[in-house]
Amino acid sequence: MANRVLVLYATRAGSTREIAESIGELLNESGMQAEVLPVKKARSFEEYDAVVLGTAVRMGMLMPEMVRFIRKKKSPLAQYPVAAFAVCCSMKKEISEHHLAAEGFLDPIRREISLISEGLFAGKMDYLKLGFFARFIVKKMVKSPEGDFRDWRKIQKWTEALIEQLQADQTKETVIEKAELVGA
Ligand SMILES: Cc1cc2nc3c(=O)[nH]c(=O)nc-3n(C[C@H](O)[C@H](O)[C@H](O)COP(=O)(O)O)c2cc1C
Repeated sequence: MANRVLVLYATRAGSTREIAESIGELLNESGMQAEVLPVKKARSFEEYDAVVLGTAVRMGMLMPEMVRFIRKKKSPLAQYPVAAFAVCCSMKKEISEHHLAAEGFLDPIRREISLISEGLFAGKMDYLKLGFFARFIVKKMVKSPEGDFRDWRKIQKWTEALIEQLQADQTKETVIEKAELVGA
């Protein structure tokens, strides 16, 4: 049976949702069954075999609803293979210091659960989608120009590697199950 994967995301302006949806599509195309939901709508993981968590970054921090969710659900999450990705503008330039800064964005998740794969993706900046305060912060502090910086090829490659990992895990489980049956 195909691996059922729950993809949960936390977004403010929608670019993380679109990345989560594209990951969901790639998982489905590979023969797995993905369900993509905002993290606030997540209930239980019982009907899934793996979980992918994706969150936007603002002011160097992950979306609080994602961090809260992981803290609350870390025991059940520990029973599943979990991958996580963060979406930020620091990844948009080929400037290694920015990438280095982005390396730490997933720390609040790493502290709570172990991850089988991590992704850091450049996002999108659309001033029209921001409220007055967010626009002020972006212009004065984040200093990001407008643009869609998402690298869909990179997102696809990351997802393909994840699919391979999940399929390898599944093969391992089948071998263990068979071995148990033989041993029984
Ligand atoms: C108010 C605000 C603060 C941001 N702060 C950061 C930041 O500290 N570091 C960063 O790399 N990107 C930052 N960004 C860029 C966002 O991470 C990027 O636009 C991302 O695509 C947003 O995801 P979303 O569309 O799912 O909300 C910020 C964006 C906004 C609007």
